Amino acid sequence: MNLHEPTARAVSRLSGKTTLVALSGIPLIKAGDDLASVILDALRTSQESLCDGDVLVIAQKIVSKSEGRLISLGSIEPSANAMNLAKEVNKDPRLIELILRESTEVVRHTRDVLVVAHKLGFVMANAGIDQSNIEDGGDAALLLPENPDETCARLRSRLHALTGADVAIIINDSHGRAFRNGTVGVAIGASGLPALTDRRGEADLYGRTLRSTEVALADEIAAAASLLMGQAAESRPVVLAHGVPMQLRDGSAAELIRPKHMDLFRQPSGDAIIRGRRSVRRYKDDVIAQTLLERLLSAAVCAPSAHNRQPWRFAIVQDANSKAHLATAMGAQLRADRQRDGDATEAIEQDVARSIARITSAPTLVLTCLTMEEMDRYLDPRRTEAEWTMAVQGTAMATQNLLLAAHAAGLAASVMCAPLFCPDIVRAALDLSADWEPQALVTLGYPANGGKPLLRKPLTSVMRVVRAVP
Ligand SMILES: Cc1cc2nc3c(=O)[nH]c(=O)nc-3n(C[C@H](O)[C@H](O)[C@H](O)COP(=O)(O)O)c2cc1C
Repeated sequence: MNLHEPTARAVSRLSGKTTLVALSGIPLIKAGDDLASVILDALRTSQESLCDGDVLVIAQKIVSKSEGRLISLGSIEPSANAMNLAKEVNKDPRLIELILRESTEVVRHTRDVLVVAHKLGFVMANAGIDQSNIEDGGDAALLLPENPDETCARLRSRLHALTGADVAIIINDSHGRAFRNGTVGVAIGASGLPALTDRRGEADLYGRTLRSTEVALADEIAAAASLLMGQAAESRPVVLAHGVPMQLRDGSAAELIRPKHMDLFRQPSGDAIIRGRRSVRRYKDDVIAQTLLERLLSAAVCAPSAHNRQPWRFAIVQDANSKAHLATAMGAQLRADRQRDGDATEAIEQDVARSIARITSAPTLVLTCLTMEEMDRYLDPRRTEAEWTMAVQGTAMATQNLLLAAHAAGLAASVMCAPLFCPDIVRAALDLSADWEPQALVTLGYPANGGKPLLRKPLTSVMRVVRAVP
């Protein structure tokens, strides 16, 4: 039987008709099986032949199996990291270890869900590692093919050599999607067709130029094919598509991956923001837009506070003269304090110069203050002090919100506690009312460096589970 029918691709393209056929007679695939021969046998069994321009869609599962990507979980030693994550997502730690090894980043996780960026670039659940439809599904897991685009290119040239047909190949897999329920077939490997069809510059029905339309052609074909492949026991892992309308260009599934820096939805998780924040004390000269600053302060005031009295106040300092005036006044107090301590003049002057430079070189200063104006009043000092501590705590929490919001927005910040040592001087320099008690000077700007690495005591040294003494 001739497996190559040299039909012109343009005929079916103009006819507006695409046909998809699931090939029959595909056996269970084992490591080392030659997929080209398997496909040729299946074409004969199905009484189908290949035309130039046809697309063969192959399920990831049989590609992975043929490439020996089946791993016994018994051979996996989970790391401490994997053990912890496994508890959080309620999965086998060995599986989590495999997922972490196959990925570059955990994008999101919660109980029963683990979304990662796979080494290949796909953002997907469980790094595409699957335990369905494999022998010994309890103890074994199937990884994605090592390089699906390369597999497609190899298979394509092999089929060309064997049949003379110039076909395109897609490897498809089922992916869940952000914002929509249900999985859908997508291309994780492609060769011989443009994975992405650029329609920009073409005219619409009314002559308007398309400005941003790029069609994920390989994904559309992958989804159509997965309709025939099924998900459970259908055993139809290869689909032949005739008459797919497409431009003549080679491509790869890598085209479908949106770079991280262009992905508006790839914001770091709350956890990543908290862990990624550092005190950064050097800034670029770039000015922080007023709207952004207000966004940060509206995050600050989301902090909790005792009786919801919101005791925080913020003095914003942006102009160079005010910064210099404040820094010099605070520097004078620092000098006087250290002279009283008997420190060496040179060391004092260095310290003062450093403090002045820190304050004046930050594009924006936010002086966080507290006010007792609306806090409860008591007659006894014990409760009066507790009430004041509550205001300190609320203001500190608002300050932390400010630091985190700044970090999430790509800004850097650091806290200076110096105003606590000279509240009257700070109030006088900035003309603040007497009830504003300066707490911290937050320096803000676009980072000129990444800050120091995170250095923290082990959790075990700062926590213990306690019981009440009866
Ligand atoms: C109440 C408070 C006061 C601080 N005061 C200063 C300060 O005066 N100067 C300074 O360089 N950093 C100050 N910091 C920042 C700490 O040095 C910094 O948070 C700490 O070294 C940990 O580094 P990280 O924030 O990068 O994790 C202060 C932090 C807090 C919470």
